[in-house]
Amino acid sequence: MKVLVIGGGGREHALVWKLKQSPLVEKVFCAPGNAGIAGEAQVVPIDASDIKALAGFAEREKIDLTCVGPELPLTLGVVDAFQEAGLRIFGASRAAAEIEGSKVFTKDLLRKYRIPTGDYEVFEDPGEARAWIRKTGAPIVVKADGLAAGKGAIVCQTIEEAEEAVGLIMEKRAFGAAGDRVIIEEFLIGEEASFLAFTDGKTVLPLATSQDHKPALDGDRGPNTGGMGAYSPAPVVTPEIFNQAMDEIMIPTVRAMAAEGRPYKGVLYAGLMIRDGKAKVLEFNARFGDPEAQPLLMRLDGDLALIMDAVVDERLDEVELKWHDDASVCVVMASGGYPDPYEKGKTISGLDEAEGLEDVKVFHAGTAEKDGRVVTAGGRVLGVTALGRDIPDAIEKAYRACSLISWDRVQYRKDIGAKAIKYLKPLNV
Ligand code: AMP
Ligand code: GLY
Repeated sequence: MKVLVIGGGGREHALVWKLKQSPLVEKVFCAPGNAGIAGEAQVVPIDASDIKALAGFAEREKIDLTCVGPELPLTLGVVDAFQEAGLRIFGASRAAAEIEGSKVFTKDLLRKYRIPTGDYEVFEDPGEARAWIRKTGAPIVVKADGLAAGKGAIVCQTIEEAEEAVGLIMEKRAFGAAGDRVIIEEFLIGEEASFLAFTDGKTVLPLATSQDHKPALDGDRGPNTGGMGAYSPAPVVTPEIFNQAMDEIMIPTVRAMAAEGRPYKGVLYAGLMIRDGKAKVLEFNARFGDPEAQPLLMRLDGDLALIMDAVVDERLDEVELKWHDDASVCVVMASGGYPDPYEKGKTISGLDEAEGLEDVKVFHAGTAEKDGRVVTAGGRVLGVTALGRDIPDAIEKAYRACSLISWDRVQYRKDIGAKAIKYLKPLNV
């Protein structure tokens, strides 16, 4: 079959790489792709949110299956548009993607169906939001309702910070219309994990566990980013928590979406906060995580095209997911300054040497080709991903690969995966 992947980041490179391994797949296209993807698929210069152009391309090229990477095309209705044109596509419909597109929609859904999450209030008036903050106290979390490229959640340690966050979102309109409403949430403490599942609306098939590293700097300091690294499996998710997450969160959410007339198909990603052996929902995403997809897809021992096909046809009950026993770690190498403004166009060296290492795959995110060289073209530039017999081994291999790659002002965290290690040591030593 001919497959189209929509997007151009590290997640999409991992999707292309995995789909290409399927014996069912003859050719992979990616729109718009990046320099790394261009080496493995035919890149097509169409923006990931230009739905009309994407559907036109898929019709002309007779694409058999399209897979959507990022959230924006999902919330804009790419799945609905493809389906109307009779094209097969893997992803959440516009109505289902509301689970990521509106934090208010999601928290109301969780409350209505008694799915574990923190308390919250919604405000359309900044004065009322501030009065609530003064009454409730800090720490507290202030979020823009709509999509804000991962920057719309502001964790506030003081009442003053929270009042400022309301001003930033509602009055300065830092995230545009996404800030028409704010949602003010109880501050949850614990350890975060990512829990992803394939679902065709009836069967919910969990992926292996994983954990992201959102803050820019070591020790979880600095501003939040799209994600500076990830690993799988995540031992914070014990078998008991895994079962609770399935029984109390993933399955009830898929049922709730169906009951609301928004049947969910695709990948459902729950951001969980774990404390005292229980998981609560922080947020949902309607897609694979980036960078979680990179280690997860390296560990997936199976045919991704077959799985996606089964989701589209609502035959997921026939599929069994298998995982390599190896652990996987992905270190994101970023442009100096990210997530604040940074320079682009820096020549990247050492890519071939790093790729030559055993069990290492360098997924490209923000890269472009210029005069035969690979140059930086975004904040998150590469996702250097390694398999190892356990997390410490995978960490060592990933960092060995990173040490071979360089460009002017490269930055990356040196502690990806470190959080897992405490679970691996015997407690009484
Ligand atoms: P979100 O965009 O909703 O995933 O939030 C981004 C990050 O903010 C999360 O990964 C958490 O680290 C933090 N966060 C969001 N909501 C809460 C909350 N209610 N309590 C504590 N931390 C939160
Ligand atoms: N890694 C976080 C996300 O994909 O939203």
